[in-house]
Amino acid sequence: MAITVENGVFHIETANTLYQMKADAFGVLVHLWYGNKTDYCMDYLLDYPDVGFAGNIYEAENQRTYSLNTLPLEYATHGVGDFRVPAISVTHGDGSTGLDLRFLEYRIEKGKYGIPGLPAVYAGNSEAETLEIVLKDKYSEVEVSLKYGVFWEEDVITRSVVVRNNGNAPVIIKRVHSLCMDIPYGDWEWVHFHGRHTMERQVERVPLIYGIQESSSTRGTSSHQQNPTVLLCEKDCTETAGFCIGAAFMYSGGFQTQVEKDQLGQVRLVMGINPDTFSWHLDAGESFHAPEVILSCSGNGMGELSHRFHNIIRNNVCRGKYKLADRPVLINNWEATYFAFDEEKIVKIAQQASELGIDMMVLDDGWFGKRDSDTSGLGDWFVNEAKLQGGLDRLIGQINRMGMKFGIWFEPEMVSEDSELYRTHPEWAMRIPGRDPMRSRYQLVLDMANPEVAEYLYQTVSKILRDYNIEYVKWDMNRSICDWYSVTLPKERQTEVPHRYILGLYHLLERLTDEFPEVLFEGCSGGGGRFDAGMLYYCPQIWCSDGTDAHERTFIQYGTSFFYPISTVGSHVSAVPNHQTGRSTSIRTRGTVAMAGSFGYELDLDKLTAEEKEEVAGQVCMYKKHQELIYNGLYYRLSNPYMENLSAWAFVSGEQSKVLVQGVVFRAASNVLRTRIRLTGLDEEAKYRMLQDGRIYTGKALMSGGILLPQIAGDDVSFTLFLERI
Ligand code: DGJ
Repeated sequence: MAITVENGVFHIETANTLYQMKADAFGVLVHLWYGNKTDYCMDYLLDYPDVGFAGNIYEAENQRTYSLNTLPLEYATHGVGDFRVPAISVTHGDGSTGLDLRFLEYRIEKGKYGIPGLPAVYAGNSEAETLEIVLKDKYSEVEVSLKYGVFWEEDVITRSVVVRNNGNAPVIIKRVHSLCMDIPYGDWEWVHFHGRHTMERQVERVPLIYGIQESSSTRGTSSHQQNPTVLLCEKDCTETAGFCIGAAFMYSGGFQTQVEKDQLGQVRLVMGINPDTFSWHLDAGESFHAPEVILSCSGNGMGELSHRFHNIIRNNVCRGKYKLADRPVLINNWEATYFAFDEEKIVKIAQQASELGIDMMVLDDGWFGKRDSDTSGLGDWFVNEAKLQGGLDRLIGQINRMGMKFGIWFEPEMVSEDSELYRTHPEWAMRIPGRDPMRSRYQLVLDMANPEVAEYLYQTVSKILRDYNIEYVKWDMNRSICDWYSVTLPKERQTEVPHRYILGLYHLLERLTDEFPEVLFEGCSGGGGRFDAGMLYYCPQIWCSDGTDAHERTFIQYGTSFFYPISTVGSHVSAVPNHQTGRSTSIRTRGTVAMAGSFGYELDLDKLTAEEKEEVAGQVCMYKKHQELIYNGLYYRLSNPYMENLSAWAFVSGEQSKVLVQGVVFRAASNVLRTRIRLTGLDEEAKYRMLQDGRIYTGKALMSGGILLPQIAGDDVSFTLFLERI
């Protein structure tokens, strides 16, 4: 049993971790422990300091030391004397805001709970257990259920929250975070993933300061600027040693992660829907389901923690035919042509690609409506016959006859004002009555909270998928959202629009992925602006970034790898000089970097030299040979590109018999030693032969002494080494 209850103490165990909490004498749910297994009840660590200006609950009478402001709480509330960041805050029917949650009851069930309308980590009945702890406000009929999904093998616990209004007046939920965790002891550092368009998920690791640090998005998407994932590491934590805790929010809209170091140096972590763009009107008898957080920890460093997230996301978040399967190597025409293409051009790209072994032609933006630039056409999902004279039928027929699959781009959530859709249904675009809407990339956002809009999009996209032999869809979304307003909702519910937008999007994706299980869906939002576990439930891969420069990509992919498995990372070789940075790197380096993901090309093959084409054919071959290892092997970060002159990584097969080591050395220098890298994750006792020099090494030598890379001349030069156990 992963979940046991003894003397009011809840023990949640996984193979290597322990989570503990208890309902104390006052019914307050106190957090005791999340970490390595201890075989012990950790309540002896609870301290009850007498701290000035701390509030004491009424029943504690004159016990100055019993305070919600200093206790580690399992789910902190607003308005009852805990002045740290709360997990939940409500306004009752009488306008008051106190919420005093006390333990009511609990349930343990086999299997993993689901969440109505939202993606959630899934499992068979024997694979997981669910704990539900019900708390109730001491003075009202508001109930809060804390849900815990427990994955023993995976060392993962999921958390979600349900708020019920059992009273007879409406309650306003102003904030409802899915995760709240108090950590009283330790010297912690905060790792978060910030960035911008073309440079997502940059890693920043900083000591915690007293007060609140936050990473969040109010953009209606999880965003390029901050990712809904967070790591807390003990100061000495490295890739291979030390303790760390990670959390990933399974949600694609605005989010908030706050880390507070309080007056006593205790740490509180909360994560959930961003309250700045959310509040929810909960009528009597209604419930609200908050999205899920995936939680794990490791006593063996960040590498092991990443493996746990990779594993659970690959196996229990991603779904469908392609979740574990090899994916087609694709060529996308975006950076090759932008909007300037016709049938002949696309056929030519496909022809050359098929000769080089590429499996699929993806037709990007510009194939529909009046779409010759990004100023018009969105919403008109019918073929632009000026560009594709024979329509999609003839184009796809030609591509299929080459033995290639065909994929297509959509941006369903958006509308251009210069479009037939907008002229017919201006009320479907979000805008606040009496105000001009903000444009971004010249476009407006469709109201996904309006069921009519979602139905129209379902009918339109599904008809195209039904009518043509389309085997891949790139689902793009190219702006941040403001002007939140839905004509379908009364005024007291307008603050619900951002969350209802996401519910509408998920519902649409659920219908489409359910009806077209053979189609590979790739998520995208100007590259990786919506790269989160929520989208991965519908799309097993996401275009990682519009930044395709191989040098910058090593940083983007390094940050992405902390939580997201390699199979989910859409990654392409593009042209040089790179369109975003102007930097030139060799075709080999670009190939090496793109191979650490779901691989493809995005350039005009016509412009490559014969040698470069030969290199491409070789890369495709090599990728297909190692695809299983890349997707399903363990991924190790072997360097920190921010601190070292290289980015290096390795894929190690489950049985530690095959090892693919790749990377890029950034800057060349004269009169220096060769670069050395140390491997991890090998079998110490085994011997490995390196394909490149035929030499036999011991696992111990490779992990302690490492290997010297060949002498490298030039900047941004990549390397690939393959080792096999003998
Ligand atoms: C943004 C995407 O990230 C690009 O790959 C491309 O599809 C463009 N949108 C098309 O508008």
